[in-house]
Amino acid sequence: MWVHRRPSWHLKESAATAEAAYLNRRELIAGLAAGSILAASGTAQAQRVSDDPSAKLYPLKRNEAFVLDRALTDEKEATTYNNFYEYGTSKSIVKAAEQLKIRPWTLKISGMVEKPFEIGVDDLLAKMPLEERLYRHRCVEAWSMAVPWSGFALKALVDLAKPLGSAKYVVMKTFNDPSMASGQKAFFYPWPYTEGLTIAEAGNDLAFIGTGIYGKPMPKQNGAPLRLVVPWKYGFKSVKSIVSLEFSDKRPKTFWEGLQESEYGFWANVNPNVPHPRWSQEFERVLGTNERVPTKLFNGYGEQVAELYKGLEKERLWA
Ligand code: MTE
Repeated sequence: MWVHRRPSWHLKESAATAEAAYLNRRELIAGLAAGSILAASGTAQAQRVSDDPSAKLYPLKRNEAFVLDRALTDEKEATTYNNFYEYGTSKSIVKAAEQLKIRPWTLKISGMVEKPFEIGVDDLLAKMPLEERLYRHRCVEAWSMAVPWSGFALKALVDLAKPLGSAKYVVMKTFNDPSMASGQKAFFYPWPYTEGLTIAEAGNDLAFIGTGIYGKPMPKQNGAPLRLVVPWKYGFKSVKSIVSLEFSDKRPKTFWEGLQESEYGFWANVNPNVPHPRWSQEFERVLGTNERVPTKLFNGYGEQVAELYKGLEKERLWA
């Protein structure tokens, strides 16, 4: 299994400062969870931590097998510069996303499985092997970040769902409720936001369900309480606020394919050599810095995922 090897994109010393700063933040959060500082802190961040019933689970133990080649993105950047069309098309949707109600939250498992079922998010969290991972994230818009996600391997959820051998895809959907997401009143978008992976992709070690970030529960704007994280693909594959997983033998039409098929496809693997029809994918702007760095094939995760695409060369794998 790849996680026992030291991958090529291992942490450089230049990343160490931000890492150390982040570790200090983790200690601070542990203090918050213990209630020692919470009363004194009037910040919205602390409020968010205390509001979420899963807060006591964080911070999680980091899985050291997942490392970065760059500094972590500043928490404020990663949690205030967002794409979440349900709450608007700008990057500043934090305020609007406060409307998202994250409890009760039920995940529905259906389609080609042994037995369909529903499970509440807190029961699910109690069953899953929770851990923290450092991942890069590359948006198709040519910006990127590097963040500590909390959550669990998607494979653990697939195993819980018990798909039939005939299932080929797992289809994931966001809620559809214009009363708590005014963006969903815009009729020309193909709501609900829908994404999908092949069963093989979903079983890859890197495929992850994010339940938190920076050692705390997932902020609403980042896709609370459950979001997909697939770092070798463009960010739009990482569907937020998931309410259902359906196993199917048919490839789903995804949200962005439904909107603009000529620009966005099903596979959407990161490739600097295949430009978006309207811009180059060669470089990326690193969020919170003035840096522009070269983009890597599969966002640097080729060692772990290239195998998944053998024999699929005729497919539109890259956008
Ligand atoms: N999921 C939903 N439901 N709605 C969205 O608009 N945007 C996608 C993805 N998941 C999106 C979504 C895009 S384009 C990106 S780049 C990432 O979420 C952004 O995640 P972040 O805001 O946590 O950085």
